[in-house]
Amino acid sequence: MTGSDNTKQNSAKQKMWGGRFSAAPGELMQAINVSIGFDRRLADQDIRGSLAHAAMLAKNDIISQQDLADIQKGLKDIQAEIAAGSFPFTDELEDIHLNIEGRLKDKIGEAAGRLHTGRSRNDQVATDFRLWVRDYLDHFDGQMTDLMSALLDKAAAHTDTIMPGFTHLQNAQPVTFGHHMLAYLEMFARDRSRLRDARKRMNECPLGAAALAGTPYPIDRDMTAKELGFDRPMSNSLDAVSARDFALEALSVAAICATHLSRLSEEIVIWTSAQFQFIKLSDAFTTGSSIMPQKRNPDAAELIRAKVGRIMGALTTLTIVMKGLPLAYSKDMQEDKEPVFDAFDALSLGLAAMAGMVRDMEPNKDRLADSAAAAYSTATDLADWLVRKLNMPFRDAHHVTGTIVALAEKQGKTLDALDLADMQSVEPGISDDVYSVLTPLASAASRTSYGGTAPSEVVKQVARWRDALKSV
Ligand code: ARG
Repeated sequence: MTGSDNTKQNSAKQKMWGGRFSAAPGELMQAINVSIGFDRRLADQDIRGSLAHAAMLAKNDIISQQDLADIQKGLKDIQAEIAAGSFPFTDELEDIHLNIEGRLKDKIGEAAGRLHTGRSRNDQVATDFRLWVRDYLDHFDGQMTDLMSALLDKAAAHTDTIMPGFTHLQNAQPVTFGHHMLAYLEMFARDRSRLRDARKRMNECPLGAAALAGTPYPIDRDMTAKELGFDRPMSNSLDAVSARDFALEALSVAAICATHLSRLSEEIVIWTSAQFQFIKLSDAFTTGSSIMPQKRNPDAAELIRAKVGRIMGALTTLTIVMKGLPLAYSKDMQEDKEPVFDAFDALSLGLAAMAGMVRDMEPNKDRLADSAAAAYSTATDLADWLVRKLNMPFRDAHHVTGTIVALAEKQGKTLDALDLADMQSVEPGISDDVYSVLTPLASAASRTSYGGTAPSEVVKQVARWRDALKSV
């Protein structure tokens, strides 16, 4: 492309804001300015905003009833065109707002030009984007609830399935599979609660702030706010057109949720490995290798694990876009949408795939039980027994237990397979009763403190969540 090409003027199209311009923008200007390629996703929200605005203008005699009727009909037609995929999106009209207004003009003529009375694209885009984010948060709410209920069902089916609990990814103490599932349920419940907080805070309407300072027309901002499902109009017009913290907060919620998804994904990757074989995933959530016929790869889990990267990236992108921006609107803010669109799509897919995988996974009970018994996982139970039955200080009990573990290791036995005489050679006070705490099941079952891993506790938590999820 030559320099003269770059600056070639295209006077064929008159821009809507072109009154004081003598020529159309150069191609490079057009290329950097155009956003219809992505902000067409705001079409539905843009039309809802315009319908509310037009109704308010007519109610307050700012436009006529006839204009309102024409605008309503035109916008409904446009809605249908967009749904049918026949709407003629064009780069010439920059963004979704001007595309729709331009089309409205084709359809209803002059009345289309009255729709923009008392508003600006600045409050229009702020409103559209808020509606879009809010719509998506509502969608996430349902998805998170679905994932929670998948985890709950899996937990309910495995309240007494014993598995190894880890610290440092080293065998620590036996836990129940249901308990492990409920740990994730708790995380996603907090994500959902964070999301609901964010929704509440963002549910104020920017429409009517106009360009930045408000408008001299006798508009009714309460009416448009209510019509669009907002709790109230935003109370500062400068803030209304400049604020994007609602999107930042939604992205933060998404990023935290994505980290939770990534942790569960990582566990699934580990658990499905040949070394662990803790769970099995069906063909629905695994793929084969093009070269190694024996392979069954947990690709879905790996991809969800990775999604946190782009979601966190989106939060970083938008934070940096907003950093240092003076009030009020700056075109920088057109860069707010793509990261949010991309991040939300990624999270939505991740939540759906995770709910599917949780439902799909089958714990391998035998393997989990064997693994739970390995690596002297009930050593703490032995120490606790010494404290309780022999009144030994915990530090001494810890030492005695260590000696007994070393003995078991030498004999190649698990703790519950050691002879009583051998244990007594280390601590003469040990009696036959000790065996009642040395199996993984006994160990888990003894942990009945509130929130503990005992099947009896897990059953209680399952019941509590069943109740809680009924009243989503
Ligand atoms: N496409 C623009 C955006 O997304 C709409 C607002 C344009 N406002 C303006 N003053 N040029 O931010």
